[in-house]
Amino acid sequence: MKKLIITGAIILSSIFSIGAMAQMSDEDAAAAVKRRQSVFQMLAFSNGPLGQMARGSDFSAETAILGSQRVAMLAPMIADLFAADTTGNSSVTTRAADTIWANQADFAQLAQDLVDGANAAIEILQNGGDARAAVGQIGPKCGACHDRFRLD
Ligand code: HEC
Repeated sequence: MKKLIITGAIILSSIFSIGAMAQMSDEDAAAAVKRRQSVFQMLAFSNGPLGQMARGSDFSAETAILGSQRVAMLAPMIADLFAADTTGNSSVTTRAADTIWANQADFAQLAQDLVDGANAAIEILQNGGDARAAVGQIGPKCGACHDRFRLD
């Protein structure tokens, strides 16, 4: 019985490691890229009004808070969206740097920094702070990750 369990465990672990090593199909890679780019589009859409207010358009605390809440809701998805490693898949068009998958902890931390920044922005806005102070908590977090992990 014990031998059977050990053999089963060895077979299972080899199945999993083969699965992890195999490059994903073109279809799966294309879907993964589309999914993550869609979330970045949503992030830009959510952060857009706050950015415009910081550049001088009419300020609405309500709209600014809503946008920041949306960023705080979407940003925790970033690390999960990159669980699918699309490196080496030449069929996809992506600006994601291959180094993401060799530095997943750093990448996840930069995503967490954005979550924290968005929550800080919400707090600033709820306490009467202006758009510029709030966007200062969010925009640089986008930039920090793009500088390191997004290709030109
Ligand atoms: C943890 C890293 C990280 C953070 C944080 C991040 N981005 Fe990105 N962003 C990326 C990567 C990587 C790509 C390239 C994705 C691809 O092409 O597969 C990207 C792509 C994009 C794109 C292009 C999407 C497309 O359709 O090709 C936009 C727009 C964008 N990000 C906006 C933002 C905004 C706005 C924020 C902050 C609110 C943000 N990003 C925060 C890593 C990040």
